[in-house]
Amino acid sequence: MDMTDTSPEQIDVKNQPLEWRDGDMPYSPAFGDHFYCQTDGRLECGHVFLSGNGLPYRWTGRDSFKIGELGFGTGLNFAETWRRWKELRADGQHLHFMSFELYPMQRDEIDRALAHWSEIDAERAALAAAWPDRPEGIVSLDLDRQTRLSVVCGAAIDGVSAAAADFDAWYLDGFAPSRNADMWSEQLMRLVFEKTVSGGSFATYAAAGFVRRNLIAAGFALERRPGFAGKREMLCGVKP
Ligand SMILES: C[S@@+](CC[C@H](N)C(=O)[O-])C[C@H]1O[C@@H](n2cnc3c(N)ncnc32)[C@H](O)[C@@H]1O
Repeated sequence: MDMTDTSPEQIDVKNQPLEWRDGDMPYSPAFGDHFYCQTDGRLECGHVFLSGNGLPYRWTGRDSFKIGELGFGTGLNFAETWRRWKELRADGQHLHFMSFELYPMQRDEIDRALAHWSEIDAERAALAAAWPDRPEGIVSLDLDRQTRLSVVCGAAIDGVSAAAADFDAWYLDGFAPSRNADMWSEQLMRLVFEKTVSGGSFATYAAAGFVRRNLIAAGFALERRPGFAGKREMLCGVKP
């Protein structure tokens, strides 16, 4: 069967079975998409999610900073963000990274995917060691004295509705919009906006017209930037 034309509704995605390509690259047959770009997901995170949100620069001088993410997947974005945070943080600063994930992966799957990058060896090992055998509810991990990871298991629309309105930055990472429109709906983008502090931001590799329109309708001031690895555009924006 050609999975590229299969919508998630047509497949039982309760356990989100994974395919592994080239040994350590996870692929979701249910959504017909990879979890990150095939060129280099770690560098993509730096270009799209960190730089797109003005990070690490915006960490300067902040006692606490909260990042939200739609789609935890393998935890690659978290691991890379944590690595950068550890390099640059000052004593006393605190980062809370809260991610919303419908199909949390198993420890061995996270470990297998992240082992691709020696740069995040320490973060991979610590995350895998702390990851529960049965991730459910809210997985809350104080990974070091200055870093908390929370993974809210369930549909993002429910998790974000229930979250506090104190996010400084968002990583919108819910598979390609053409494969998973739920993660880019106007309703969800409005919730993301509502839960963002004034001056807070979002970034995404997505550039689809309906995503742009939903983010504008939600209230974000949008900017288009060159995407990662030759992709023409990505989007980022600020809550005025
Ligand atoms: C592109 S992957 C995220 C990659 C991830 N940020 C990483 O660093 O590996 C998209 C993720 O969104 C999750 N997802 C898809 N639909 C969802 C929904 N409605 N609510 C919450 N998570 C969802 C998928 O299970 C998948 O893990």
